[in-house]
Amino acid sequence: MPDLQSQIIPEKVPEHIAIIMDGNGRWAKQKGMPRVLGHRNGVKSVREVTEAAAQLGVKYLTLYAFSTENWSRPATEVTALMTLLVETIKGEIKDLNKNGIRLTAIGELTSLPAATYKTLIEGIEQTKNNSKITLVLALNYSSKWEITRAVRLLAEKVKSGHITLEDIDEKHVEQEMTTHGIPDPDLVIRTSGEARLSNFLLWQAAYSELYFTKVLWPDFRKNDLMEAIISYQQRERRFGMISEQVGKEGAG
Ligand code: IPE
Ligand code: IPE
Ligand code: MG
Repeated sequence: MPDLQSQIIPEKVPEHIAIIMDGNGRWAKQKGMPRVLGHRNGVKSVREVTEAAAQLGVKYLTLYAFSTENWSRPATEVTALMTLLVETIKGEIKDLNKNGIRLTAIGELTSLPAATYKTLIEGIEQTKNNSKITLVLALNYSSKWEITRAVRLLAEKVKSGHITLEDIDEKHVEQEMTTHGIPDPDLVIRTSGEARLSNFLLWQAAYSELYFTKVLWPDFRKNDLMEAIISYQQRERRFGMISEQVGKEGAG
């Protein structure tokens, strides 16, 4: 096995990686197990990938854990996912603190079941002083919901006279996003072979590098994360310019 770690350029590790964790259900099905066991095994990947990201120098890791559209799944699966979230957050607080991981969340959080919301807020509160890496859970998240909300908040500010219509620029829109204060993702990874964004960070990923892998989320480990980072580092981020303007040193 090639030594992946030695191929990573430390100065060019993405500051922010966002992951669409997909394939838990298929992973379980392949093994003849109920879908929820796929989700349970996915937690192991979350743990390992978060610690690996911290160790590699990633400063923000956003994980798409539950989309607004996921409420349409069978009620038993939704309930199991919400219970798993509570269990996981409660069980991980000690390790989050030990590893310097600050927990935070984006999405329509107040519409989560009360127990999930409460545990989440406690987890955020109890890890708020950690600074090695910020783990952002996207929960009941929908990019279209977030953008619509930003439009409404800006309209209210205009209506109340806090800003004028002419003031509205990209910066103002960005300020109303739930991700305000978090840099845009440099790299977006999706597991399980699907090549779509599923309503995830549509505004923030405008210039992100996209990486799709067939690996199912419960099988995704540190090596897979390193492969994604290596692929990212081999790319040239041009941001609309031409190659000669940005230099030939790859992403970063
Ligand atoms: C991703 O795995 C986890 C969530 C969306 C909560 P899936 O549950 O979507 O797994 P597949 O896509 O059915 O295999
Ligand atoms: C996207 O996965 C949402 C999360 C990973 C939480 P889905 O499995 O719900 O996405 P679609 O519906 O297949 O696009
Ligand atoms: Mg899926």
